[in-house]
Amino acid sequence: MNVAQRVCIVTGGASGIGRALCRRFAAAEARVVVSDLDLAGAEAVAAEIGGIAFRADVGQERDLASLIAQVEQRVGPIDVFVSNAGIAIGGGPEVPDDEWRRIIDINLMAHVWAARALVPFMLRRGSGYLVNVASAAGLLTQIGSAPYAVTKHAAVAFAEWLAVTYGDRGIRVSCVCPLGVRTPMLTFGDNRITALLSPDAISPEAVAEAILAGMEREEFLILPHPQVREYLARKTDDPDRWIRGMQRLQRRLEETA
Ligand SMILES: NC(=O)c1ccc[n+]([C@@H]2O[C@H](COP(=O)([O-])OP(=O)(O)OC[C@H]3O[C@@H](n4cnc5c(N)ncnc54)[C@H](O)[C@@H]3O)[C@@H](O)[C@H]2O)c1
Repeated sequence: MNVAQRVCIVTGGASGIGRALCRRFAAAEARVVVSDLDLAGAEAVAAEIGGIAFRADVGQERDLASLIAQVEQRVGPIDVFVSNAGIAIGGGPEVPDDEWRRIIDINLMAHVWAARALVPFMLRRGSGYLVNVASAAGLLTQIGSAPYAVTKHAAVAFAEWLAVTYGDRGIRVSCVCPLGVRTPMLTFGDNRITALLSPDAISPEAVAEAILAGMEREEFLILPHPQVREYLARKTDDPDRWIRGMQRLQRRLEETA
């Protein structure tokens, strides 16, 4: 899909990948809606690119439903919805349930709620594009964060299901799975994880460029880091070998503690 003149919503548009994507959409002459929990940040990006800002907490279904209804009414039919907003927390099974539920809501249920509100419109029109930003952690894993790895795997699974179910009815779906990206998220807490991801980290602008190119080709899996395709092939080819390799990485990380 070429995004020129299309109505494109980006959640988490005030920072990082979302902001770079809003700018790149605007450069491609899309009609951009910048949505974020941080309204001032969304307004700043919207003012810069001639877009429109909306506050929405993607962890709340009513906010997403209202964002979609308002844009449909006030701006026009939504052609592209990018579920980009996401959070990262560290830890494993000891993470309290309310934090697990919060990250599940933001990293997974936001994609479900956006689809719930938008798919009926898109099916009626016979067209539309859902771009779900997951992570390479959703294909591989995330050392140091079970909630992030699990919710991103679930986001990939949901995107696959959407593509399989609605692909013949005009809805396009892409799932974006970057490795490290130089945004505030990369420095979210554990310095050892930041150090692990930093050598391969790319700019949010490079991710936005990869997303536009992938959308142009209507490609399901958008991999801004090409090496992820090879890592995924190694994992599916020999899961035990892959686990042993990841265990070595985990040990190295613990040794630097
Ligand atoms: N940075 C990386 O290394 C990396 C790698 C792979 C995938 N990702 C994914 O890319 C996406 C964007 O991450 P980023 O690196 O640009 O992060 P970022 O922290 O720079 O930006 C995230 C944006 O989302 C907004 N946000 C957070 N919670 C929200 C909520 N409940 N409702 C609405 N907006 C909310 C924040 O205000 C912020 O503007 C995320 O889904 C993330 O998991 C990031």
